[in-house]
Amino acid sequence: MLTIHSLDDLREQLGHWRDEGERIAFVPTMGNLHDGHLKLVEAARQRGDRVVVSIFVNPTQFGPNEDFASYPRTEDDDVRQLTAAGADLVFLPDVDTMYPGGTETATYVEVPELSDELCGEYRPGHFRGVATVVARLFNMVQPDVAVFGEKDFQQLLVIRRMVRDLHFPVDIVGIPTHREDDGLAMSSRNRYLSPQERGKAALLHATLQQCAEDLQAGDAPDDVEARAMRALEEGGFAPEYVSVRSAATLRRPADGENELVILAAARLGKARLIDNLKVFRRP
Ligand code: PAF
Repeated sequence: MLTIHSLDDLREQLGHWRDEGERIAFVPTMGNLHDGHLKLVEAARQRGDRVVVSIFVNPTQFGPNEDFASYPRTEDDDVRQLTAAGADLVFLPDVDTMYPGGTETATYVEVPELSDELCGEYRPGHFRGVATVVARLFNMVQPDVAVFGEKDFQQLLVIRRMVRDLHFPVDIVGIPTHREDDGLAMSSRNRYLSPQERGKAALLHATLQQCAEDLQAGDAPDDVEARAMRALEEGGFAPEYVSVRSAATLRRPADGENELVILAAARLGKARLIDNLKVFRRP
């Protein structure tokens, strides 16, 4: 596997592969890789001749009181895992490469509305940072296809909308959430959980499953959400939101709209956990 830090080297290598007519599949990450990321790499291998992975802890998607400084950076282990997973190239840019004029006065990409609610309400500016860095990475890598996890469901929709609105010629593929045996969605932030908190953490997924059952039984979304918030509080979480939305638009579901997604964010100790579950409500 090639390990590349500079944009010039990246472009030179990608140019060779494109000259050969090879299809480039791209997996953007912030590193600290786990099996969920490796599933994305596997999906990329199925969709491209060459798999490019980026590792960049993007400062612009972290709020001032968030975990940018402490976000786990495990480059050597990440490179080892990507080599074993069959990636062809890992791109490890620094902040100056990604933001040549600095981050303060940089050109930003905003995806309105979709970015402002759910996680966007609790993490102002987060999706602006995500859209901006993904747009920059797409311009650098110019992939044919890019693979993202559905665990970050709102992020996936923000990226799809950006790609549509800015005419990026990239197919966006979402891959189902990879879970631990007890249902906890895999996430780099799970490592912030103490052993005792880890014992409780699967309640988030279990609560979403209960919400799905209740919706299928015909309960109103408002009631389902309120019950779920209570269940999480009683289980020791500090929930931010549990919300039933249209899976296509993330708007409040209209009457008769049956392809839904339940999204939740909750704090447990130092960890902020997010999860979601798609549900088809019987008409
Ligand atoms: O999902 C992530 O890891 C990040 O938000 C992404 C898409 C790599 C952008 O920094």
